[in-house]
Amino acid sequence: MAIVLIRQDGKLDLWKKAFLQQYPYLPVFHCKESHPVEEITMAIVWKHPEGSLTKYPNLKCIASFGAGVDFIFDDPSRPEKVAITRVIDTALAADMSEYVVGAILGYLKNMDLYCQEQQQNNWRPQAYSRISDHTVGIMGAGTLGMTLAQSLLNIGFKAVGWSRRPKENTSIKVYDGAAGRTDFLNRTTILVCLLPLTDATKGILNRETLSLLPAGAYLINVARGGHLVEDDLIPLIDSGRLSGACLDVFQKEPLPKDHPFWTHPKIKITPHVASVSDPASVVPQLVENYKRLINKEPLLHLVDPERGY
Ligand code: NAP
Ligand code: GLV
Repeated sequence: MAIVLIRQDGKLDLWKKAFLQQYPYLPVFHCKESHPVEEITMAIVWKHPEGSLTKYPNLKCIASFGAGVDFIFDDPSRPEKVAITRVIDTALAADMSEYVVGAILGYLKNMDLYCQEQQQNNWRPQAYSRISDHTVGIMGAGTLGMTLAQSLLNIGFKAVGWSRRPKENTSIKVYDGAAGRTDFLNRTTILVCLLPLTDATKGILNRETLSLLPAGAYLINVARGGHLVEDDLIPLIDSGRLSGACLDVFQKEPLPKDHPFWTHPKIKITPHVASVSDPASVVPQLVENYKRLINKEPLLHLVDPERGY
């Protein structure tokens, strides 16, 4: 039994080193070195090349390096009966909260505008808003969403959430399903998307849904680019329906150089860095699942293929 690491972002050596630092005798290979394909039982993947999983006849688990698994379901040649797992990690959740809280506070205090003004030596004070003026709506009240909710409550924000299934005993009110979505959006002045990308959530941030937010609401998308109908965003901002957006994820990544989002003054862009799996923090749970495979024990953080997340 052995592990193969598959990713295309230049981080293969870094991850392999992290595995061997913590588990020196682990049979872990990366996909660009010679490796025994028949022995591979676990493939740990991040945006792997389509078709790359077909060469492992004894694969038992496809593990995402991150929280999202949409790119695994997107691979039509993925062996369908193989278990899929994902990362659930306190550091990943804390990093996401820090990013979103930072983006929200920057928005409240016009930080983006002042960055632009500074380029032209302009001294132009603007009215700002306060934490007490806003209700943050977290679309996707899951692992990351509920950690964010707590961070927001800790600094005095009002927050609400939205999930697929009803929830009880939560720190914030969580609306659920299609029936709860309109009320959720109507209350939300800052919308944070933290949904998984599935057939049901693709394109969910569109002209119709975003128009259910109060006029002047702000959008933060830190989930996946496929959630946003990109062509709908600029007209909503230019008409004043939305006051702006902070986007970390895009339909096509890297965002093409000529994309209109780059130059829009009310759109802030970051290159899919809201929270990035930290090898030191994540390797132990990946290895725990490898050991569980060997011992034929139930895997941690299994993804439900029916739900797609
Ligand atoms: P999670 O724990 O699975 O939570 C997902 C939440 O979305 C759950 O509350 C779920 O509802 C809800 N949901 C799913 N489908 C829905 C639907 N059709 N309608 C309403 N609610 C729905 O996922 P997570 O760990 O929080 O991660 C969320 C996503 O964040 C990941 O999938 C990934 O795409 C993204 N992410 C981005 C970055 C970045 O750097 N930008 C980093 C990490 C993760 P239930 O509670 O009812 O199941
Ligand atoms: C990052 O985007 C992740 O899914 O972990």
